[in-house]
Amino acid sequence: MAERIEDIAVAMVAPGKGLLAADESTSTIKKRFDSINLTSTEDSRRDYREMLFRADDAMKNYISGVILYEETLFQKAKDGTSLADLIKAAGSIPGIKVDTGAKPMVNFPGETITEGLDGLGERLARYYEAGARFAKWRGVIAVSDVLPTRGSLRANAQALARYAALCQAAGIVPIVEPEVLMDGAPGTHSIDRSEEVTEWTLRTTFEELAEARVSLEGMILKPSMVIDGKNARKASVAEVAERTVRVLKRTVPSAVPGIAFLSGGQSSEEATAHLSAMNTYDLPWKLTFSYGRALQATALAAWGGKPENVAAGQRAFTHRARMNGLAALGNWKA
Ligand code: 13P
Repeated sequence: MAERIEDIAVAMVAPGKGLLAADESTSTIKKRFDSINLTSTEDSRRDYREMLFRADDAMKNYISGVILYEETLFQKAKDGTSLADLIKAAGSIPGIKVDTGAKPMVNFPGETITEGLDGLGERLARYYEAGARFAKWRGVIAVSDVLPTRGSLRANAQALARYAALCQAAGIVPIVEPEVLMDGAPGTHSIDRSEEVTEWTLRTTFEELAEARVSLEGMILKPSMVIDGKNARKASVAEVAERTVRVLKRTVPSAVPGIAFLSGGQSSEEATAHLSAMNTYDLPWKLTFSYGRALQATALAAWGGKPENVAAGQRAFTHRARMNGLAALGNWKA
């Protein structure tokens, strides 16, 4: 496996491949399992993730890396193989979510600050030892007519930059994720407002990355797309693609090797269509996916928590992985 962070970053955005975000916290995966009436236990979480990581065709051909929650990084498959080794055996790279969550930000009603910097250096050394070669930290940016505030945006960007610097010092590629919410309350903002806030967010994030002396060649950006709020959705695929590419070109230096989007509550097909449309433009970086829900929703439903449905779950996951692999090349067709 590549060991320079610059090489790992390039491998994470290899042509036609992208990332699987399987780093749901224990409380988030419980919500996902509730939708299929499955109790969330250490074993059921392991079984679900083992099903995904053993989907060989998907993992070998379309998934460059998997973002794990800490529990999963140290978990073993039923036959005793570590789940991280399963991922590596498929030629994919294990990664780890290292933030400890977005918490209400004192003095900033309606906004959050992401926590997890204390002791992060030591945790990263343990994660590296366990096989993780990249990490993720998500800053959450609320959007409305009056949000975000300058104070909250700056604090979240600074935390992302401190995290990124610590990762690089540990030989781990930071995925820098400043998510401008599309489905947060009230979720009624226009695409104009999304474009304005996304541009401001990315500009602020790259200012802080520069202040923290983060190597742009050794990181991956994980942004949200420019899109109208989930409760006011009108924009066409072409418009989302055009505006997102415009904002990225204004704000993301070409030294960054790749940009891997979150899906953020878009349907599986929307997320694929948007990515493919963006990849028809002439771009200075790789544009790919780092989807959670948009890669997993159909697989979770097909599996339903039943051992006899493992193959059906893997087929559903493989289909979405293949469609997004095509989209990463601009070759997906409806
Ligand atoms: P979604 O694609 O479901 O938004 O999840 C991606 C992710 O990792 C968010 O932090």
